[in-house]
Amino acid sequence: MTRRRKILKTGNVLVKSTAQLEGIRESGRINTAVLDYVQDHICAGISTEEIDRWVYEQTTRAGAVPAPLNYEGFPKSVCTSRNQAVCHGIPNEKEILKEGDIINVDVSTIYNGYFSDASRMFCIGEVSEDKRRLVQTAKEAIQVGLLEVKPWKPLGDMGHAIHMYVKSRGYSVVEEIGGHGVGLQFHEEPWVSYVAAKGSGEIMVPGLVFTIEPMINMGGPEVYVDDSNGWTVYTEDGMPSAQWEVTVAVTQDGYEILTR
Ligand code: MF3
Ligand code: CO
Repeated sequence: MTRRRKILKTGNVLVKSTAQLEGIRESGRINTAVLDYVQDHICAGISTEEIDRWVYEQTTRAGAVPAPLNYEGFPKSVCTSRNQAVCHGIPNEKEILKEGDIINVDVSTIYNGYFSDASRMFCIGEVSEDKRRLVQTAKEAIQVGLLEVKPWKPLGDMGHAIHMYVKSRGYSVVEEIGGHGVGLQFHEEPWVSYVAAKGSGEIMVPGLVFTIEPMINMGGPEVYVDDSNGWTVYTEDGMPSAQWEVTVAVTQDGYEILTR
């Protein structure tokens, strides 16, 4: 048997200064306002393209830039992922929201060079009890993860807690796609898993900024990428998926959500 020794990893992780944290916080405020705008206007009958227009207009009006736009060739300002779409859905005129849909709207903002990233789920009209429970579980998973965010704990404790919670509700967690460090770039180290082993991963230190954004599937955890656009991720079994996302900073005694 291989002997396993616990290694405290810090990795190549950026620790943010007070001034940088304030920059990310400001970016996060705009990001939150954009999500609030979407929340106030989203309804059955609109296209996902309409959501893209709102995000572009509200973000630029605030003097900021939508981070997804032209990011590695992504063509729109926001990701809109509906029902069995897990993430990275591309807004378009043809996709019309209808009663019973669940949709993730993932907004990311660059302001003054600082990046923030958050997403919410929206239930369109009357949604089945099954889907509502899935959406609620994905939201609660964030809170479960946040309870583990404390300095000098390994990041894997957070991912592990989320995984256990989601399993206890009868759902699965996507393994291949996770969260990420964020702040000075869109995607920084560390990579953040939500199926991590307890005690694994980087040590959380004050000033570490990352996203909590587990993707929760009603069925199995398997996913695939849409060949036709190279972006959109779907559940393999066609069952619905849900995700909420926050950007958090590790503080001296816990965490601060920077996307409020
Ligand atoms: N906002 C997504 C995330 O949480 C990233 C989307 S990349 C994009 O990491 F290009 F699709 F926007
Ligand atoms: Co993210």
